[in-house]
Amino acid sequence: MPHTQFLATGFHVPARVVTNDDLAQMMDTSDEWIVQRSGIKTRYWVDRGDTGVGLAREASRKALDKAGLKAADLDCIIYCTCTPDHFEPGNGVFLQRELGLSDIPAVDVRNQCSGFIYGLSIADAWIRTGQYKRILLVGAEVHSRGLDKTSRGRDTAVLFGDGAGAAVLAPIDDDGRGVLSTHIFADGRYAEKLWVDGPGLAHDPYVSVEMLEQGLHRAVMEGRDVFKFASVKMPESVAIALKANRLTPADIKLLVPHQANLRIIEMVQKATGLREDQVYTNIQKYGNTTAASIPIALDEALAEGRLKQGDLLVLTAFGSGFTWGSAAIRW
Ligand code: ACO
Repeated sequence: MPHTQFLATGFHVPARVVTNDDLAQMMDTSDEWIVQRSGIKTRYWVDRGDTGVGLAREASRKALDKAGLKAADLDCIIYCTCTPDHFEPGNGVFLQRELGLSDIPAVDVRNQCSGFIYGLSIADAWIRTGQYKRILLVGAEVHSRGLDKTSRGRDTAVLFGDGAGAAVLAPIDDDGRGVLSTHIFADGRYAEKLWVDGPGLAHDPYVSVEMLEQGLHRAVMEGRDVFKFASVKMPESVAIALKANRLTPADIKLLVPHQANLRIIEMVQKATGLREDQVYTNIQKYGNTTAASIPIALDEALAEGRLKQGDLLVLTAFGSGFTWGSAAIRW
């Protein structure tokens, strides 16, 4: 069976930079609090007219250009987001249309911060079995429009940013290179620890003025529980990936973790026994872009020359659901 290789990656963020001082104008917070608790200094927010699919289209075009491919060369799209432009249909078909395509499948993955690793796991299975040969895997989010930008929502509003990252995946007939493994997990007992309650069809009526007044349409989070689980489950999933491939932390050239919080990443680094230079971070610039964070970080890491052919790359993520997972890739 062939392995899955990354032909190229690309990312795109909106033009508008939002600093911590900008946020302090909107809510009771400060640059000092945000940097100390999360490491985040800036994030990007969409402007009027921007959409998640628009961000995804730009990231996809960049990845396709770098791969030397046209959209018409793709045979499948996997679109990961927890902030879709519409309830239905999913963003995948809108991206397909934006890329000028028809006929090929467009799959939507709803696994929040773990979305890119869940999507990679699906893509890898399809590529290994020969079902598809050129898969566009996208993670894209527009969080800013959903945030409560008043002091009531300050514990989440300061963390999230908008952006999109994309990867073009294809088979490689080289036993040693490509995706070596993916491991994905979930524990629905914690679904309400980080969630958006409504509008939703569990409610009757599914949307109401009362619901909006109560703020059910905003993401709410029990931050300490998320922190605790993320700090344990991400290192655990890295250990599982290493064990499955008979590798050790010393073999890792680069760990690209989901960029949720710099303090979580530091705990993951220590728990995994890695040096600082083995772990990539860019949350300082982008905040938490959920399903987009890993492909954005990966594209930046590649542009900085942090990975060479033959290096071991490990991805790990944790997020709402709870969901988490890892991937080991021989570059
Ligand atoms: N600015 C200033 N003060 C704030 C802010 C803010 N933006 N937000 C909360 N506070 C206040 C709280 O009200 C509280 O005040 P009080 O002591 O008077 O009650 C105080 O700061 C401390 O709040 P805590 O919630 O205890 O702060 P904590 O140290 O736990 O940090 C944080 C909060 C940053 C959310 C932390 O729990 C965290 O990082 N959790 C992980 C969340 C995460 O990364 N989520 C991302 C999504 S999931 C994922 O991607 C993995």
